[in-house]
Amino acid sequence: MTKRPKVLVARRVPAAVIDKLSRHFELDTVPGDTVLTPDELRARLQGKAGAYITGTVRITGELLDACPELRVISTMSVGYNHIDLPACTARRVLVTNTPDVLTETTADFGFALLMATARRMSEGERLLRDGRWESWSWDFLAGADVHGTTLGILGMGRIGQAIARRGHFGFGMKVIYHNRSRLPAETESQLGARYLSKDELLREADHLILVLPYSAASHHCIGAAEIALMKPTATLVNIARGGIVDEDALAAALREHRIAAAGLDVFEGEPRVNPALLTLPNVVLTPHIASATMPTRLAMADLAADNLVAALTGATPPTPLNP
Ligand code: DGY
Repeated sequence: MTKRPKVLVARRVPAAVIDKLSRHFELDTVPGDTVLTPDELRARLQGKAGAYITGTVRITGELLDACPELRVISTMSVGYNHIDLPACTARRVLVTNTPDVLTETTADFGFALLMATARRMSEGERLLRDGRWESWSWDFLAGADVHGTTLGILGMGRIGQAIARRGHFGFGMKVIYHNRSRLPAETESQLGARYLSKDELLREADHLILVLPYSAASHHCIGAAEIALMKPTATLVNIARGGIVDEDALAAALREHRIAAAGLDVFEGEPRVNPALLTLPNVVLTPHIASATMPTRLAMADLAADNLVAALTGATPPTPLNP
């Protein structure tokens, strides 16, 4: 009998994934919701041909050098900023991710967070639960409209476009966007979306949503100077990665009402949240759950398993990043 490749499953995953993987591989699984330290990860990867990871597991060139038998890394996430992709490519380590299956779910959440932020839902719920609701008054928790306003989208990939469709068709919004590359004219007209420079986008948006990938180039690309261009009535929503926003600058702007409100699902040091944000009433905070519906998480988990099985059994993986 030929020896089966060894695979590390570095986070807890659905039972169906373990079943699928164990038909092909000798598995090493991490119990419970343990997040391995870098040293533990290096030790557990010794002799492994594959790793099934999530966005909480960091892969560096140094780690790859210490684990020379590693050939495939499958991440159960669309984002891959936790993986040094050039280092993987240079060492011929194949990396796969899970695009597409989470697009609509993530766009739903982005829109929900935008609505909750503009309409001050968390603030209202906190007040009600604290017994601070005294009576109706004309301007009580009066927020911003979403329908018919201008939706700015920074990053117009799959998820950005799914958000544009919601804004344009569902809420009659004027959609404006900025992206590394402009969309074809036909796609722009289908989405009712107008391309602007980043500065114009910041100036014109009533609601700005961040959906761009995180990289050295996008680190803190929304800071004090960018926020200063936004309308004082504007809402900022981040469902991309925390490091895109300078959180100290954002907290100061929210405190001084230089923008109206923010909705954040991602944080630079997550799961730690910048304490300056925790005390502000005009920010809605959620714990990185934009893709968290059961059907979508199962689909992501299954796609990550299919990628690993294909890549280690000589087939073509469905969604490779560096084929
Ligand atoms: C992703 O898939 O990148 C989400 O942020 C979950 O990690």
